[in-house]
Amino acid sequence: MDYFEYRDSALWCEGVAMERIAREFGTPVYVYSARTFVEHYERIATAFAKLQPLICYSIKSCPNTHLCKLLARKGAGFDVVSGGELFRARRAGGDPAKIVFAGVGKSEAEIRAALRCGIGLLNVESEAEMDQLVRIAAEESVSARAALRINPDVDPVTHRHTTTGTRETKFGVDVARARRFFERFGRTKEVSLCGLHLHIGSPVNRVDPYVAAIQRALELIDELTRAGFAIDTLDIGGGFSAHYRGTEAPDAAAYAAAIVPLLRERGLRIILEPGRSIAANAGVLLTRVEYVKPANARRFVIVDAGMNDLIRPVLYDAYHFIWPVRPGEGFVPGARGDAIDAPGLVETDVVGPVCETGDFFARKRRLPPVERGELLAVFTAGAYGMSMSSQYNSRPRAAEVLVEGDAARLIRRRETYDDLVEAEHV
Ligand code: LLP
Repeated sequence: MDYFEYRDSALWCEGVAMERIAREFGTPVYVYSARTFVEHYERIATAFAKLQPLICYSIKSCPNTHLCKLLARKGAGFDVVSGGELFRARRAGGDPAKIVFAGVGKSEAEIRAALRCGIGLLNVESEAEMDQLVRIAAEESVSARAALRINPDVDPVTHRHTTTGTRETKFGVDVARARRFFERFGRTKEVSLCGLHLHIGSPVNRVDPYVAAIQRALELIDELTRAGFAIDTLDIGGGFSAHYRGTEAPDAAAYAAAIVPLLRERGLRIILEPGRSIAANAGVLLTRVEYVKPANARRFVIVDAGMNDLIRPVLYDAYHFIWPVRPGEGFVPGARGDAIDAPGLVETDVVGPVCETGDFFARKRRLPPVERGELLAVFTAGAYGMSMSSQYNSRPRAAEVLVEGDAARLIRRRETYDDLVEAEHV
């Protein structure tokens, strides 16, 4: 699952004690295990090897360039959704030919930048965007490759805010419109409309929504091929899950067992866009208890990280396993998740210092009795943790540390008060 383990009564990341990281770099701090990150990528590559897919790491999940570099070196491509993400992918050494660009609202400047660097594929989401792309490609005198993002109207059975492949969402075009889209743009010379793109949502804890969505895409590809359009690419997006509560996520091999047979022998170039399944379990948010406050029959453990550091609990009702870094006799967890039971656990709300009731990491959670000064680990925080952080309440963003074996190095320094006002020097 990952390389965060309890050894000698305390939590370690690979060969480094989390207590040492807190001492050296302070808290709150995001700690990443390089080995976990790379292994999760490799598991996907191995599971889908029969399709020889291009695996484009979804940068939005965890965009630190030092992490992206680890994957670029392994030959990964990148899935980007903004000019900023394109900039990061290239900074990390990403090969532009292996970068795919999605998003409903690409600006003219972003499209131009993508075309100028020789981007591999633009995933187009509307007729208006395609008009703009054709015009810019002509102006730039470059040829571009594009895939049409279709909306397969499949329920991924996940939170409504991260459901993207159902009819009422803003993403892609429905199948009926897709046919007309190809009639209108399928023979354009500036832009080769060569594929379809899907992304049904995230996290998707089941394989059947992928099967349904891919089947729909394949039917459409067959129809378009019969109509004379040359479709050589299918990008099936991201959304594979991660272990938040225990070991609930299907592993890469389980997704592949359902998906590979559908796509083998099809002769298509397959693209995957995993983010969370690579990054989530590779990161822990390490935070220190500032105060413990019993109030109104509750016990609040107030930590030095806040909703500005990790917004997932309040935004998606997301569950993150939380446990002390040095849990004390009898509390070293054998496994993670809700099921942990030991005499002496206390019902606790873990909250941050931000002035909002939504500033919590866990509510009514049974935890060992922790005290002021202790360290807590918020697990499975590698994806959509730091990447969704803000400076709300004028709180400088946390530091990021990368652990590789016995070495821990800073890969993003803690922001300072000067950083808070830097862009205001105008
Ligand atoms: N491809 C596209 C087009 C996407 O929009 C996304 C994620 C991905 C790939 C990667 O999905 P992943 O493999 O990471 O599940 N902030 C939310 C998740 C939003 C996902 C947005 N799109 C969260 O914290 O759960």
